[in-house]
Amino acid sequence: MAEQPAIMSLAEAGAKSEAKSEVDVPEQGAAQQPQEEMPPTVVVDDVHLIYRVHGAAAGKGSATSALSRLALRKKAAGITEVHAVRGVSFVAYKGQAIGLIGRNGSGKSTILRCIAGLLPPTTGKIYSDGQPSLLGVNAAMMNDLTGERNIILGCLAMGMTQREADDKYDDIATFSGLNNYNGKDFLRLPMRTYSSGMASRLRFSIAAARTHDVLMIDEALATGDRDFQLKSEARIRRLREEAGTVFLVSHSMKSIRDTCDRVIWLDQGVIKMDGPTTEVVDAYEGK
Ligand SMILES: Nc1ncnc2c1ncn2[C@@H]1O[C@H](COP(=O)(O)OP(=O)(O)O)[C@@H](O)[C@H]1O
Ligand SMILES: [Mg+2]
Repeated sequence: MAEQPAIMSLAEAGAKSEAKSEVDVPEQGAAQQPQEEMPPTVVVDDVHLIYRVHGAAAGKGSATSALSRLALRKKAAGITEVHAVRGVSFVAYKGQAIGLIGRNGSGKSTILRCIAGLLPPTTGKIYSDGQPSLLGVNAAMMNDLTGERNIILGCLAMGMTQREADDKYDDIATFSGLNNYNGKDFLRLPMRTYSSGMASRLRFSIAAARTHDVLMIDEALATGDRDFQLKSEARIRRLREEAGTVFLVSHSMKSIRDTCDRVIWLDQGVIKMDGPTTEVVDAYEGK
C-alpha cells in the first residue's frame, strides 16, 4: 500500500515536492499554485512505477531450472520490465478538478492506481489526505446481486451506516436512472444483466452519493450515454465545490474543458505539461 502518513507531514511534503517539481517539470502553469490558501490533498513526489511482466519464455522453465536460477540469484528468463511512470511529481489542492490526459499507455491509470494505494510506487513517495477513492475499483460490486443490494453494499463499503445508506438509496437510484431504464426497473435485476455502460452508471451514482477527499474517475464517464455524461459532469463540479479534489481521466477534451480547471498531460510516463485547462488542452490538440 502507498504511504498514508499523518496529515501534519503533508504540508511539509507539499512544500518540498513543489520546490522540487519546478526543477523537474519546466512547463509549470499557474494552476500548480492554489488560487487561495487551499491545503494540499495529494503529493506525488518523484514517483516511478515499473511493472515486471513474465513473458512466454519464463513460463516454459521447469521447476528445476527455476530452482537453479534462485540458487545462482539470477534474474528469471523472459521477464520484461515496463517503466510505466518515470519520475512524476505534482501537488493537488483541495477544490481542484484535475484532468489527466495523454495517449493510451502514457501512464494515467497507473498513476491513479498508485494514488489510490493499489500499487506501491517502485521508487518515490505519495502522500495523501484521507483515503482517495478510485472509481470502478474501490466500488465493491457483486455481479450476482441486484443493483438494489449493490447500492446498499456500496454505501456501507464507503463507510456509511445502514441508516445513512437507506437514506441515500432513493437519490442514488434516481440519479442512476436504472430504476426506470427503457421502462424496466433494472435495480431489481442482478448486475450481470447490465451492459458495461449501465454498470458504470451505477458505480458513478454510488460513488457520487458521498463527498470524497479525493475522487478519481478513470474514463468511467466515457461509457455512459450523452445524457448521463452531462449529468455526471455537473455532479463532478458539485463534488469539487463540496471541497474535495477530483481527478478525471478522459479522452473527451470537451468533458475535460467543461469539468477541470487544471490539466496534467502525461506522455510516456512523464509529465509533459501541467497548467490551466485551456493552455494544456490547446497544446495537446496542437492549437
Ligand atoms: N498490469 C500491467 N502489467 C504490465 N504492464 C502494464 C500493466 N498495466 C499497464 N501496463 C503498461 O504500463 C504503461 C502505462 O499504462 P496505463 O497506465 O494503463 O496507461 P493509460 O492509462 O495512460 O492508457 C503501458 O505501457 C502499459 O502497457
Ligand atoms: Mg488507462
